Amino acid sequence: MPRSETTSFSPRGADLIAQSGAPRPSAPPVTAPLRAARAQLRQALAALAERVGALPSLPLEQRAAAMGRVVAELDERLRPHLEFEERTIHPVVDKFACEGPAAFSASMRYEHVIIYRWLAELGRQAGEASAAVAFSRRADNLLGVVLAHFELEEEVLFPVLDRTMSASSGRALTLGAPAPSRGAPPLDAE
Ligand SMILES: [Fe+2]
Repeated sequence: MPRSETTSFSPRGADLIAQSGAPRPSAPPVTAPLRAARAQLRQALAALAERVGALPSLPLEQRAAAMGRVVAELDERLRPHLEFEERTIHPVVDKFACEGPAAFSASMRYEHVIIYRWLAELGRQAGEASAAVAFSRRADNLLGVVLAHFELEEEVLFPVLDRTMSASSGRALTLGAPAPSRGAPPLDAE
């Protein structure tokens, strides 16, 4: 597909996005490593969601420590991904989509701001054993925002990269991406 067909989003954007999401017959999409990392991260977040749901039923003396561990793991898993996207993916997508004051990635970047802010709120709440119910609700909210955010990026931003980037450029993009889960090798390790 010529590059010129890939750089604008019209009211038919949903159709274009749906078409663009199809893998190239000759090669996997350049975002395949990023999507694989997301899949692993989703599994980790699902496990965290289970722990969040169990928080209010923990003995009072265990809650603060458990909430602290949840926040620490959320931060540890999410922050590297968000910062990597801000450094690499968003600028590239903006270059191919609509660079400028109304950058294409602006709404995604703002959702990152929301995620950072809610993480900080959870961090402040984590020390209050009596706030476990409110903490769990907020953590659930955050996990929902994160999952919706991931889907939006995978359905809207990643297809821009898949359409416009060469395999070698895509490879360069994914170099330095955070490992999909703790203890796993980085994406560029072979
Ligand atoms: Fe993001």
